[in-house]
Amino acid sequence: MTTTDFIYSGNSPKLKKGNVSWKSPSNIALVKYWGKTEPQLPKNPSLSFTLSACATHTTLEFEPLETPTKNGADFPFTIFFEGKEKEDFKPKIASFFNRIVTYVPFITDYSFVIKTRNTFPHSSGIASSASGMSALALSIMSLEKKLNPSITAAYFYKKASFLARLGSGSAARSVKGSIVVWGKHTAVPESSDLYGVSFPTKTHAIFTHFHDTILLVDKGQKQVSSTLGHQLMQGHPFATKRFEQAHKNLSALLQVLQKGDIKKFIEIVESEALTLHAMMLTSNPYFVLMQPNTLAIIHKIWQFRAETQANICFTLDAGANVHVLYPEAEKKVINTFIVKELVPFCQDNQYINDRMGRGSVSF
Ligand code: DP6
Repeated sequence: MTTTDFIYSGNSPKLKKGNVSWKSPSNIALVKYWGKTEPQLPKNPSLSFTLSACATHTTLEFEPLETPTKNGADFPFTIFFEGKEKEDFKPKIASFFNRIVTYVPFITDYSFVIKTRNTFPHSSGIASSASGMSALALSIMSLEKKLNPSITAAYFYKKASFLARLGSGSAARSVKGSIVVWGKHTAVPESSDLYGVSFPTKTHAIFTHFHDTILLVDKGQKQVSSTLGHQLMQGHPFATKRFEQAHKNLSALLQVLQKGDIKKFIEIVESEALTLHAMMLTSNPYFVLMQPNTLAIIHKIWQFRAETQANICFTLDAGANVHVLYPEAEKKVINTFIVKELVPFCQDNQYINDRMGRGSVSF
């Protein structure tokens, strides 16, 4: 599908005042998206596990306007986060509306009240842009569905991912579960830079109920915004090789997920995490986003793995927190290890037990 397939062309009967609600999960990338071009197109394909416990709940209230919002004018909306009006969230949402209006022109007919909350603590260092933008994009699609009930479920979700991407790249991967590929890759025929697609084939049983325990090492504000981070890949001395490597890692991971080769899985996933940080260490300006406790946790995981042969590994996002990944069958012994040996390295001993999820749901 191309960009023009996503332009709404039906007529727009005015809907009466109403509301729609969606819950969208966060996701954790195993092959990382780092580097993009306008309009929010990835420089390489990425693959993620959709999570379950970490999610955003959004209700979009809409009310018809007497006169539609004019081209270029500010969209009339207010946003409440956890019950409180949030002026500082407005610019990001306003630019999202401006980016998507070509595809959903009917939004100019309404004023909106957005009520949103996260299931995870706001200042946890866990990015809410993926789950937040996904929940909002799905809510806008529910509006489209009300205007044009004939759209198929496949189109609904594809366009939701397309719109979510325009809000935040990784949000394209939060619409569906449980393994999502976003970005064109030769081995995934349906894949696209425009939206995420679910992993096309059956995965090995070992990957069906994977766990992700998120260790909150640093709950502070992100030191490098993802916008700046992606920019740093422009003109980065290792960018071309990195983008090639992501393609190769994704090819390999597709095989691994089907065959259940957990050892190879561990190798690819940890290498991807460290490569992401290596890109930041070697960019201009450069950043160290790991904290001493991030490293301490990594070494503990390696030591435990060497001693017990447990299938435990880690991945990182653009920060100091550590995502500890492991299969369902080893949950008990690995949980005991995490609580005893890793949680003491977390800020205020805080961590979140999450697992693979099935994607967004309306409520
Ligand atoms: C390190 O999706 O947050 O988490 O497109 O600018 O909103 P924008 O960036 P964002 O970047 C995510 C980067 C990452 C890796 C990943 O999730 O693939």
